[in-house]
Amino acid sequence: MDILVERADGVQTIAFNRPDKKNAITAAMYQTMADAMVEAQSDAAVRAILIRGSVGIFSAGNDLEDFMKTPPMGESAPVFQFLRAISSAEKPVVASVAGAAVGIGTTLLLHCDLVYAADTASFSLPFAQLGLCPEAASSLLLQRVGGYQAAAEKLLLGEAFDAREAQRMGFVNRLLPAAEVDAFAFAQAAKLAALPAASLRVTKSLMKRASQHELQTQMSDEAVHFGKMLLAPEAREAFKAFFEKRKPDFRQFD
Ligand code: COA
Repeated sequence: MDILVERADGVQTIAFNRPDKKNAITAAMYQTMADAMVEAQSDAAVRAILIRGSVGIFSAGNDLEDFMKTPPMGESAPVFQFLRAISSAEKPVVASVAGAAVGIGTTLLLHCDLVYAADTASFSLPFAQLGLCPEAASSLLLQRVGGYQAAAEKLLLGEAFDAREAQRMGFVNRLLPAAEVDAFAFAQAAKLAALPAASLRVTKSLMKRASQHELQTQMSDEAVHFGKMLLAPEAREAFKAFFEKRKPDFRQFD
């Protein structure tokens, strides 16, 4: 099982469990995650959601091989189902990042309510390096949390940055030793699960509703570009280069 879904103390945990591939996410994994989010939303027994990785790794983002074989097409693609579910979740969503968070591994955090990270965690948004563009409304949300120049640096250069910088930018609440972050994040989620669900729901909705339309529009616009760029030669070259363990050569493209 590449995604584990567990329940305890009113918390539905969705855990990446594909450590041999650095928790790279396939379409099948997005589908399981989307289904688990929808189920959590509709089941009153679930009062908070926790997303976590495995030991030392959060997620290497989209599985690049899967991307080439089955690029997400249209609104019903599993990745978009998952993004719609997490971006419109009414119940609180907590994330525990115990290692590298790449691509959607980082952008999904922008939709979480509380994010805890290991002090050794790293973050990166290598979309441009892959011939792609931002997704998950990160072209809007990252500059909103961190300011334009900070967001532009991360999204244009795509270089990895450390947990302190992520906390400074504003999308990580607290840093912890790697061995403690999962337990701490679970305890925070369990605290939320013990609070009055209606209060949390209304509070979250009051904070988020003004920007919800803009966010969904941005995500759809990004998806149109992303879908086209995924099939373009720049992305093909970048993906091939990753698996051939070499630097991509973009000089052949305008
Ligand atoms: N898609 C598919 N396979 C991936 C992957 C991805 N996104 N990320 C890692 N893997 C695979 C590697 O191909 C390798 O497989 P192998 O053992 O069969 O050769 C295995 O996972 C381990 O990866 P490796 O690169 O050797 O681990 P590392 O610890 O040196 O580096 C990362 C970890 C996450 C920094 C690095 O794997 C990476 O940059 N991955 C690509 C991230 C990416 O571009 N994601 C897409 C964002 S849109």
